[in-house]
Amino acid sequence: MSQTHFGFQTVDERDKARHVRGVFDSVASNYDIMNDLMSAGLHRLWKRYAITVAHPRPGDRVLDIAGGTGDLGLAFAPKVAPTGTVVHTDINEAMLREGRNRLLDRGVALPTLVCDAEQLPFPDGHFDIVTVAFGLRNMTHKELALREMNRVLRPGGKLLVLEFSKVAAPLEKAYDWYSFNILPQLGKWVAKDEASYRYLAESIRMHPDQETLRGMMREAGFGHVDVHNLTAGVTALHVGIKC
Ligand SMILES: C[S@@+](CC[C@H](N)C(=O)[O-])C[C@H]1O[C@@H](n2cnc3c(N)ncnc32)[C@H](O)[C@@H]1O
Repeated sequence: MSQTHFGFQTVDERDKARHVRGVFDSVASNYDIMNDLMSAGLHRLWKRYAITVAHPRPGDRVLDIAGGTGDLGLAFAPKVAPTGTVVHTDINEAMLREGRNRLLDRGVALPTLVCDAEQLPFPDGHFDIVTVAFGLRNMTHKELALREMNRVLRPGGKLLVLEFSKVAAPLEKAYDWYSFNILPQLGKWVAKDEASYRYLAESIRMHPDQETLRGMMREAGFGHVDVHNLTAGVTALHVGIKC
């Protein structure tokens, strides 16, 4: 039986998705406020940068994987209008529901679908742009998910992976202190959920660093992969082109 990690714990591979679902079921209703608090709003700038690099055009077909509460979908929708589409997906119904309600409140209706990134229900070569923001880290079989993202892109299409990454060495100590002391406390006070925010800090440490992820994307079929470090590597944007 294969094992994998869930934060710093070792769990049976078959159980990881259930543990991850527990985290996002629990955080869904406080997700947006916690994101703003934990990152002091920086996540908005990282996402805005990803959208600029994606360079969506009217008519493009965009797939947002692990789309959660819909930040990327909301930003892409006006850029691909009037003939393009943005498909908003996530494996977690609670997150997707928060996202869909938020989009509808802003007058944006997108096709919304519960689906697992490891088994995408779309034909080969269908999308111009695929995005996954802060989602890959939570997936059990990242290689499989990356291959699926490659499969559904058209040749020349772009995958954008925005994810926490390896912070620059001089900041490591301060970042560790913040992650393992402040984040779980914020989770406890605001979301009444310390454990999920401890998982967040642990899962970031277990996620492949910039160069490892670049290699994984090359392996998954992306002929060219650029890495953009953001905020000294707290986050990295990996851009893969399907050649
Ligand atoms: C940290 S949230 C990111 C939400 C949104 N993209 C954002 O940047 O605000 C991570 C999301 O990944 C989703 N997720 C985890 N595993 C997944 C999988 N195998 N397939 C699709 N989504 C997944 C979770 O349900 C959760 O909504």
